[in-house]
Amino acid sequence: MPTSVVIVTGLDANSEPHGITIGTFTSVSLEPPLVGFLPGINSTSWPLIASNGSFCVNVLSSQQTELCWKFAKEAENRFDGINWSAAPSGSPIIDGSLAWIDCAIHSITEFGDHLLVVGRVEHLMKNDPAVDAMVFFAGKVTSVTRSD
Ligand SMILES: Cc1cc2nc3c(=O)[nH]c(=O)nc-3n(C[C@H](O)[C@H](O)[C@H](O)COP(=O)(O)O)c2cc1C
Repeated sequence: MPTSVVIVTGLDANSEPHGITIGTFTSVSLEPPLVGFLPGINSTSWPLIASNGSFCVNVLSSQQTELCWKFAKEAENRFDGINWSAAPSGSPIIDGSLAWIDCAIHSITEFGDHLLVVGRVEHLMKNDPAVDAMVFFAGKVTSVTRSD
């Protein structure tokens, strides 16, 4: 199945940034505005992000392939060398992302070896419409062009 690719970011209790490459991001509800994704129960970054009660979804463009892999590999400091600014919640907005969605955690439910995290959308922004979105399919990163 092709999926979109996002990096879910947040700050830990010491205000250090964390982020995870995620392909399970989905819209859940329009009213109220809810979105969701599924981190693994063994994720090391998710509990650190969750401790702050919020997260930011960075929708990757086709030009951010390096970031997709960087935030999917085990690493102490994935944010080294990354330019970012703070969303209203404080969670990182990564430079060059196609769009960002800043969320407050609504619920976390365990299903087998993954958690379904649902967030209430607090703020969002879409950037340069000329840039293509990243798509993940069959183990590879590809892209899709916006028609508007
Ligand atoms: C395109 C892509 C999509 C991914 N989607 C998910 C996902 O939805 N849930 C998940 O738990 N891991 C997903 N991963 C794997 C995580 O990014 C990877 O396991 C990461 O090292 C987890 O980091 P953490 O242990 O710091 O949380 C995905 C990886 C890639 C490359």
